[in-house]
Amino acid sequence: MADITSHDNIILVGFMGTGKTQVGSVLAQLMGWEYVDMDIVLEAGAGKSVQKIFAEDGEPAFRDMEKVLLEEVCSSSRKVISTGGGVVLDESNRQLVRSRGMVVLLDAQPETIYIRLTSDEAKPVEARPLLSGSEPFQGIKELKSQRDSSYAAAAHHIVDTELLTADQVARKVLELFKELQRH
Ligand code: S3P
Repeated sequence: MADITSHDNIILVGFMGTGKTQVGSVLAQLMGWEYVDMDIVLEAGAGKSVQKIFAEDGEPAFRDMEKVLLEEVCSSSRKVISTGGGVVLDESNRQLVRSRGMVVLLDAQPETIYIRLTSDEAKPVEARPLLSGSEPFQGIKELKSQRDSSYAAAAHHIVDTELLTADQVARKVLELFKELQRH
């Protein structure tokens, strides 16, 4: 992992509802670094919601926008980056994040993800294009099992968020980063 120290970023990856957004914003404060939530930046750039981008332009167009944005945000240092849940499905995106920072996978069980997503008022399940068409719990289980190997392949570290608050997860990630700096 020698390449990580030359690009000081922390990049959070993982499935929807694993806490990337909340943890990322707490962690950025703890680090005193800039915080980038890719979905929010992408929506601001496109002038419409992720849901609308999927509906009007299609998923491939959304993935192209994600790729361009990822390259941009990874080009500098001292950032905490919360990626969208599909960013590291792409092999070249995985390589890019691994070379530009410490990549941490936030994980949780489908049951927990379901509870978190169905109680998320800011981003309800109906506003999540990949889950809105199916029965949500089944959709989460299937999509997560298809994706787990890509998430693991992207990550330098995995943090199980199951029983932890966002604050506790952020502190764990901070410890992992400090540990890396010691070596
Ligand atoms: C997606 C996850 C979402 C958003 C889009 C696609 C995915 O981000 O980027 O709906 O493919 O898993 P969050 O993981 O931040 O919810």
